[in-house]
Amino acid sequence: MAEAVQTLHPGHAKFTPRVFSGIQPSGGLTLGNYLGALKRFAEMQGRMETIYCLVDLHAITDKWQDPERLRQQTREAAAGFMAAGIDPASSILFNQSQVAAHAELAWIFNCVARMGWMNRMTQWKDKTAGKNAENSSLGLFAYPALMAADILVYHATHVPVGEDQKQHVELTRDIAAKFNHDYKQDFFPLTEPVIEGTATRVMSLRDGSKKMSKSDPSDQSRINLTDDADTIASKFRKARTDAELLPDTPEGLKDRPEARNLVNIFAALADRTVEEVLADYAGKGFGTFKPALAELAVEKLSPISAEMTRLMSDPAEIDRILGQGADKAAAIAQPILDRTFDIVGMLRSRR
Ligand code: TYM
Repeated sequence: MAEAVQTLHPGHAKFTPRVFSGIQPSGGLTLGNYLGALKRFAEMQGRMETIYCLVDLHAITDKWQDPERLRQQTREAAAGFMAAGIDPASSILFNQSQVAAHAELAWIFNCVARMGWMNRMTQWKDKTAGKNAENSSLGLFAYPALMAADILVYHATHVPVGEDQKQHVELTRDIAAKFNHDYKQDFFPLTEPVIEGTATRVMSLRDGSKKMSKSDPSDQSRINLTDDADTIASKFRKARTDAELLPDTPEGLKDRPEARNLVNIFAALADRTVEEVLADYAGKGFGTFKPALAELAVEKLSPISAEMTRLMSDPAEIDRILGQGADKAAAIAQPILDRTFDIVGMLRSRR
């Protein structure tokens, strides 16, 4: 992996390979979060230093969240991380608001980033489309600067995300580059998004042109990590598809978004390539494929859901793990934040 960092960051070999990524605890975790993020987070663990975060400060940017529910969802997301294989003894696992350095660095980045950059973010445009942008929170607009702070306060070099977050990670690079340029320092790494695998954009089960999302009003559009076996099977059975048989090559799926989505999900869950899956199912219809997919999904997701339920029965233990993770995270972030403030010219006489 060390070589990969060198290729990704010519001239930045001084940065220790370090993974950072986060998920908003703004609702339950979906199969999209699992395949696009969590499963990959667990795979990166042990290969280099890994820091994973429940970004609760981000979770209040879009809409008002019931306070007690937000705390509960944060615990549930933490349980989801651990159930998906993130071991708090090997990775740092914490919630963002417990490490003040994120919000402090975000302020500096609010002053580095330009309004025009934020205006170009497709997520901002999508979330305010057809609505009055004037009525959106300032936090929603500035959200990518906080995300850049999440990553750069650890000098993270690798950020595993789904495709929808690519633009935000690229903006993180722009912020780092402008900071380095403005202050004539080679201080922040130019981090790259790591977007790998067959399920970097899991689509809705009801509409192959929309991404699977925890905020979709239709529960039928997504698989939740807490769904039981019957619900998972029924959602896949009712998933929208076409009437054709499965092709023998991935090219045959090109103009069939719903079929492609189900094959991608199968491949990601089975740790196989799309070609391998098609080798087994070419010429077969969805009457055969959907039950096989449902069975595979239940086999892979049921243990995760059972483990989440077990972990959620002891919320105090989850809180303890997140607190301990926050202490470890703060120990890495604080010197980087202090150095940033020095570079910017903030007078610091309390240390
Ligand atoms: P969020 O909470 O929307 O999603 C968390 C992660 O899950 C991925 N994901 C998907 N991947 C594939 N298919 C899908 N349908 C799907 N839906 C979600 C996302 O790409 C993401 O990797 N802004 C981020 C959270 C964040 C963050 C960060 C991420 C805040 N700070 C720093 C990385 C680094 C977000 O809203 O993700």
